Amino acid sequence: MTRIFVTHKIPDEGIKLLKKRKSIKLDIYEKDRQIPRRELLRRAKGADIILSLLTEKIDGQVMDSAGSQLKMISNYAVGFDNIDLAAAKDRKIIVSNTPSDQVNESVAEHAIALIFGLSHRISESDDFTKAGKYKGWNPNLLIGSNVIGKTLGIIGAGRIGEMIIRRMHDGFGVNIIYNNREPKPELEKKYKARYRSKMQLLKEADFVSLHVPLLDSTRHLISIKELKSMKKTAFLINTSRGPVVDEKALVSALQSKQIAGAGLDVYEHEPKIASALKKMPNIILTPHTASATIEARRDMSRIAALNILAFLDSKKIPNQVKL
Ligand code: DGY
Repeated sequence: MTRIFVTHKIPDEGIKLLKKRKSIKLDIYEKDRQIPRRELLRRAKGADIILSLLTEKIDGQVMDSAGSQLKMISNYAVGFDNIDLAAAKDRKIIVSNTPSDQVNESVAEHAIALIFGLSHRISESDDFTKAGKYKGWNPNLLIGSNVIGKTLGIIGAGRIGEMIIRRMHDGFGVNIIYNNREPKPELEKKYKARYRSKMQLLKEADFVSLHVPLLDSTRHLISIKELKSMKKTAFLINTSRGPVVDEKALVSALQSKQIAGAGLDVYEHEPKIASALKKMPNIILTPHTASATIEARRDMSRIAALNILAFLDSKKIPNQVKL
């Protein structure tokens, strides 16, 4: 019998696949909220596999609490910064994640929605209208800016970054500049994207959208110096991981109008959000829901299960994380 501990209810697709196997015993944390740490440590005991969420810190303590039979952590997320990879490697535990086109599409669409939401002041306009403040057409009311012809700076031109580049270039006539570990000639050919150093990109872009994983090298990738070099009319979009942006520095850049606004789906100390951010009009905040579409979440569930089944069948795990 393989015992799998699932740290949170996830969509049925993957659970059904796992339930089909008679040799699997599933233990699913039943509440629709983050499992308390103490309960995580207790419930992980005896698990051969943990199916975890990005909200659970899966470190050496959890692995040891599970026991030496723990062989796999199947993370229900594309990112895996919640898992201590060194601790997993030491214990010879396999780690997998759930990248998929649907997830990437969802995050790309969300980032684009934030770009348009900010430039057309959708959230402010919605608040204004619902508050009964609309008293008649006024040429000076809630003036935003067009997206067409503007310059989008993508930091991290991986799969999500490229999906945004394609849509914004082909669909909305936006000029693309990008920063990546290395230049990507195919992006330059297909979308006339131009490679820039990070600092140069920040100087030129009207929208800066972040698509990097959280690593030691990307923590506070955007801080005081970076925000200072952005245009006063520019917007920052973050759908990657909160700590990629120094939230304190962002608050002061917004307060002092060093940049025009921000669209954030992730926060440095999730689920806490700096209260100053919540009070600002020129900012759109979403609760880490960039991948919250039916299509994406179903895919994540299915892929998390398929990773497990491949492991149990001693097949190549489709999305094994390199340790
Ligand atoms: C992921 O999969 O890493 C996303 O952040 C979840 O929305």
